Amino acid sequence: MSTFPEIDLNNVPKHIAIIMDGNGRWAKKQGKVRLYGHSIGVESVRGTLKAAQKMGVKYLTLYAFSTENWNRPKEEVDGLMNLLAQTIVNEVDELDESGVRIMCVGNNSELPEYCQNELAAAMERTKGNDNIHLVLALNYSARWELKNAMKLFAQEYEEGRCQLEDLDDEKVHSYLATKGIPDPELLIRTSGEYRISNFLLWQIAYTEFHFTDVLWPEFRDTDLYKAVLDYQSRERRFGLVSEQLK
Ligand code: IPE
Ligand code: IPE
Ligand code: MG
Repeated sequence: MSTFPEIDLNNVPKHIAIIMDGNGRWAKKQGKVRLYGHSIGVESVRGTLKAAQKMGVKYLTLYAFSTENWNRPKEEVDGLMNLLAQTIVNEVDELDESGVRIMCVGNNSELPEYCQNELAAAMERTKGNDNIHLVLALNYSARWELKNAMKLFAQEYEEGRCQLEDLDDEKVHSYLATKGIPDPELLIRTSGEYRISNFLLWQIAYTEFHFTDVLWPEFRDTDLYKAVLDYQSRERRFGLVSEQLK
C-alpha cells in the first residue's frame, strides 16, 4: 500500500486530472442501482481532494459528466444532476473553509437551471480561495471545447482583432475552457478502462497517464499516493534525450 511519507513533496504534480469511472459497475457488484454507485463516488471525491491538498496539489480536475453522458437513461441523468446540486449545497461550507476554489470547465449553460445556480453561487463564494482549485468538468468534451476555440478564433480574425500568425500555443490555450489553468502533469483513469473518452485532448499533450483497476467508489487516498509515486518514477523527456535532462 502506498503511503504519504513515501512521496517526494518537491515533485508533486501541480495539476492532477481524473477520469472517475466505474460507479455503475461497482453498484452492480453490490446488487444496487447505478445511482447508488454515483452517490458513494462522492465519498471518494472528498477523500481524494483532501489527499491532494495534503500533498500540495494546486489543481484537481474531475471529469464528472461528459457531453456524451446525456445519452444515458433519463433517470440516471436526472439523478446525477440532483446529486451534483445536492453535493455542492452540502459541501460548500467545508470546501470554502479549507481554501478550495471551485471552478467549472464545460458547457454550463446546458445544465439544468438549479445546477447552474448552485454552481455559480459556489464559484462566486470560493473565488478568493487558492489552497487548491477543484475544477469540475461538467457537460464537458474536448471536441466541444476545441470547436468552441476555433469559433472564438475565427470570430476575432473576422473582426480584424488578430492575425493568423498570432495563433501560437498560448493563443490556443486562451480560447479553451481551461484558460488560466496549467496543463495536468498527471492523468488518472479508474476502473480498468484504457481510453480518454473525449477528455482534455489539447491539454494532455505531455501528461503522464496512470491507469488503475480500482473502481471509483473504492478509490482511496492511498490510490492517489500510488498514482503520484508512479508519476515520480517516470522520466519526462519532452522530446529530448535522457542526457539532456541531467
Ligand atoms: C463514472 O462511472 C461516472 C460518470 C460517467 C458520470 P460510470 O457511471 O461510467 O460507471 P461504469 O463505467 O458504468 O461502471
Ligand atoms: C467518462 O466515463 C466520463 C466521465 C467519467 C464523466 P464514461 O463511462 O462515460 O466513458 P466511456 O463510455 O467508458 O468511454
Ligand atoms: Mg463508465
